[in-house]
Formats: sequence, C-alpha cells, structure tokens
Amino acid sequence: MKFNFHKNHQLLFGFVFYGFVALSIIIAIIPAINLNDIPPIEGSRPMNTNELNGLNVYVSEGCLYCHTQQVRPLASDQVFGRPSAPGDYAYLKPLDDLRMTPAVLGSERTGPDLSNIGNRQPSETWHYIHLYNPRAVVKSSIMQAYPWLFEIKDDIDPDDYVVSLPPDVAPRNGVVVAKQDAKDLVAYLLYLRQTPIKAGNSVASRGKGTVPKEFNQGEKLYNSSCASCHQQKGEGIPGAFPPLVNSSVVNSDNADEHIKIVLFGLKGKVINGVQYASEMPPLGGNLSDTEISQIINYERTSWGNKGKTISPDDVKRIREAGK
Ligand code: HEC
Ligand code: HEC
Repeated sequence: MKFNFHKNHQLLFGFVFYGFVALSIIIAIIPAINLNDIPPIEGSRPMNTNELNGLNVYVSEGCLYCHTQQVRPLASDQVFGRPSAPGDYAYLKPLDDLRMTPAVLGSERTGPDLSNIGNRQPSETWHYIHLYNPRAVVKSSIMQAYPWLFEIKDDIDPDDYVVSLPPDVAPRNGVVVAKQDAKDLVAYLLYLRQTPIKAGNSVASRGKGTVPKEFNQGEKLYNSSCASCHQQKGEGIPGAFPPLVNSSVVNSDNADEHIKIVLFGLKGKVINGVQYASEMPPLGGNLSDTEISQIINYERTSWGNKGKTISPDDVKRIREAGK
C-alpha cells in the first residue's frame, strides 16, 4: 500500500483520527489516570468550609488570570518556594459538576506565584488592605482593587472585621468592613502554605539549591521580606504597620531587641502611642543569621537612621538564647 495521502482519503482521515486518539491517550488520559491517586503531602491538611469558599471566590474573581500556583524547579522560581509536587494539589476537589478541576495552576504571571503565599505573607491585615486597594501597600502595584468584597459601614457589629487603612485610601465617612467572601478569600490565601517534603524525596532535593548570591544583600532582602509591610523607605502604614524611620528600636545602640523582633516576631506593643492591630510575624525560620544581620544593618543605616551595625554572630547568640 502506498502512503498516498492526497488520493486515499480513508488513509488521510484514518491517520488523522487514530493519531489524535493515540496522542490523547498518551498525553492526557494515561497521565490523568496515573495522577488520580496521588496522596496529599504528609503533614498537609484539607481545606475547611471557609477556605473552600475562599477558593470559589479566588476562581470566580479571576485571580488565576494573573497568578500561578505552580513553582517550577528553576532558579528564578526559588523566591516563590520549593518546586510544586503533585501531592500539593491532592486536596483540590471539583467545585461543582461544571468545574471539575478548580483552575488554580494558572499560566500567566502578571503577579507573583501564590503557592506559598501563606508563608511568605502571613499577615491577615496586609491581605485585607491589599485586596481593598493594592496601591495602599505596594505603591507601584498594577493589581486591580476588589472593593466589592468590602462594605463601608457607620456602625460596626461585634464580629465585624474592620480593615485598618492609611488615610489616603480610607473612605471619608465610615469604616471599611470585610464581607464574608473577603474573609474566606483571605483564609484561603493563608491556607496556601507549602508543606515541606521529607528529605530523600527527589522532588524535595531538587528544590533545595542555594539562594543566588545577588539576593545576599540587605536592601534586596529588606525589599523581599519586610517592605510589603514597613514599605520601601521604612515609612510604614499608619495604623497598620509601624515606621522603621526614627524607630527607637532601630536606632538604639544595643540591637538585641531589634534582632529579637525579627527572629521571634512582635505582638501587642504600643509604639509611639499607637496600638497596631496586626502583628509582626516571626521571620527567623525563613532567614539565616547572615541574612538577618544584612537586613538589620540596612535598616540601621538607611532613611536617616543611625543605629550601630551588628554581625551575624550577634544574631546567632540571640537565636540560641531563644525568646
Ligand atoms: C491584573 C492582574 C491581577 C489580578 C487579576 C490579580 N492580581 Fe494579585 N497581583 C498582581 C500583581 C501585578 C501583583 C504584584 C504587586 C502587588 O503586590 O500588588 C499582585 C500581588 C498579589 C499578592 C501579593 C503577592 C506577594 O508575593 O507579595 C497577592 C496575595 C495577590 N496578588 C492576590 C490576588 C488575589 C486574591 C486576586 C483575586 C481576587 C488577585 N491577586 C488578582 C496582579 C493581579
Ligand atoms: C506582615 C507584616 C510585617 C512584615 C513582613 C514585617 N513586619 Fe516588622 N512589624 C510589623 C508589625 C505589625 C509591627 C508592630 C507589632 C506591634 O506593635 O506589636 C512590627 C514591628 C517591627 C519593629 C519594631 C518597631 C518599633 O519601633 O518598635 C521592627 C524593628 C520591625 N518590625 C522590623 C522588621 C523587619 C526587619 C522585617 C523584615 C525582616 C519586618 N519587620 C517584617 C509587621 C511586619
């Protein structure tokens, strides 16, 4: 038989049809069957009702058009967390009969990957401000605001979550209160925490790698770990995050308290007469002694601050002494 495609139409259509079927089986059906029974990653947990509704809001608001939830095993993706593994998605179940696979993986990164956002940005307060108006916390942000997830009220009920906003974005009258969808969406964002994969697993070891050298600098580290709350020039956000400019902690000769706050976090401190609604997350787990000393020295020598600088050994001493 000759492969005479332009004369033998049965051959042509047969080839196309069976080629299509074969490729579908190899590329789509076999992998889908193999991936069906991947167990969740040890130590991770399913979503609760609120987080599940948050996932619904995430999908229906179209967050996935700009955000991925898949970290590739590439150096450029290390800032987002360890490379994603199939078990990361084991708890994603059909949202309803028409939406069998919640579309969270995404394909476009206009904004950062969110696979590990609950660890990278654990502050509820930050997420509420950011959703209400991204520009309030990230000045150059091009993410759109989601004001319809909030309502403006004159009188608040006891279980209302009031969003503390900087004066230039706060409404002239009344206060901004998060609707249930906003609360659930934030619960879902905080649920997005990568569970570490036990060593020995090839996926885990691929993800480790060293942090690229260029990131080992105080300013870059400050921008990636602290500026989302304390802002790029250390000016903070009134009522939500304290300024580091002129802070007595940052300018004191003895840096022990400064180091302690970065290592172990801070909660409930009244700073210059202001009680902050949110808390500072402990960051010692994410940052090495050297990195913390670089950040602290950057804060102590920038924006007009004049604090004494420290060495990585100072951080080590306080880390070992514990809270
Ligand atoms: C038009 C594109 C776009 C859409 C749609 C969008 N975002 Fe964003 N998002 C961005 C950009 C750009 C940034 C980076 C600047 C910033 O932090 O605001 C960002 C940042 C973020 C961050 C902070 C990430 C980090 O690593 O600091 C979170 C959280 C976030 N978005 C959540 C959401 C949620 C939830 C939705 C849906 C309700 C959403 N985004 C919809 C573009 C978008
Ligand atoms: C999620 C938001 C957030 C992030 C990220 C964050 N902080 Fe904070 N920080 C806060 C809040 C809120 C307070 C005030 C807590 C209180 O009043 O109890 C604070 C307080 C502080 C203080 C004490 C200021 C004073 O005058 O007493 C220092 C110093 C500080 N942070 C440094 C840092 C450094 C360094 C980083 C990055 C490594 C960082 N923060 C990251 C929210 C944050």
